[in-house]
Amino acid sequence: MRQQIAAANWKMNLTFDQAGNLLDEILKAPNQLQPHQKVVLAVPFPYLQFAQNKISGKVNFFTAGQNCYTKSRGAFTGETSAEMLHSIGIGYVVLGHSERREYFGESNAMLEEKVSMALTYGLTPVFCCGEPLSVREAGTQNAYVEQQLKESLFGFSEEQIQKIVIAYEPIWAIGTGKTATAAQAQEMHAHIRSVLAGQYGKAVADEIPVLYGGSVKGSNAKEIFSQPDVDGGLVGGASLIAADFIQIIDALK
Ligand code: PGA
Repeated sequence: MRQQIAAANWKMNLTFDQAGNLLDEILKAPNQLQPHQKVVLAVPFPYLQFAQNKISGKVNFFTAGQNCYTKSRGAFTGETSAEMLHSIGIGYVVLGHSERREYFGESNAMLEEKVSMALTYGLTPVFCCGEPLSVREAGTQNAYVEQQLKESLFGFSEEQIQKIVIAYEPIWAIGTGKTATAAQAQEMHAHIRSVLAGQYGKAVADEIPVLYGGSVKGSNAKEIFSQPDVDGGLVGGASLIAADFIQIIDALK
């Protein structure tokens, strides 16, 4: 059965005390999570080990790095490797977020290397893709996202691709309060699945979780997640508010 994921992307937010309080609130809330439903918390690097300790014993909960480097180790001041994340028990890593692409110059080719590193060290990459507003307005979003998938992911084997989670995040919907409609999300998610099916076959494509990201909130999560090809969400702003994120976890169908 395809995995469903409510993923929190805290980005560069919260002090240590605030992070601890938010984790406590989220973890103490009762949930109805089934074995195929997961909560993934992409917290800032300094809090990862702390968050990892907090979730211990919570079977459906995982932590994630928000990035990793293209190499395992060496003289790369300021970088963090997939090997390091793996060595402290982190299960996931968000790669290719549009903010990384835009502010830190991450290209599709570089992301292929990062995904490869994550897979080498047994981390599940949450690979982000999505088009800017200009592309959406020109109506060429399908080709744009297809190109991102092809250039970063199609070098991987059938076995490897099944270990990847994809997050579709239209850039015009990130942090803007302007969510894609459930129909727009479904249309792109179905397209992503058909692109994956074209390369790896339908059976493989049907098992790859595709999350939606971009202004997901407690109030709209249920409608978005109810779409057949939407397998949960990658949530920024609303993941910093306990009540909102708990509602988002509950919206997993
Ligand atoms: P948002 O961010 O939920 O604040 O729009 C989503 C993301 O950037 O992953």
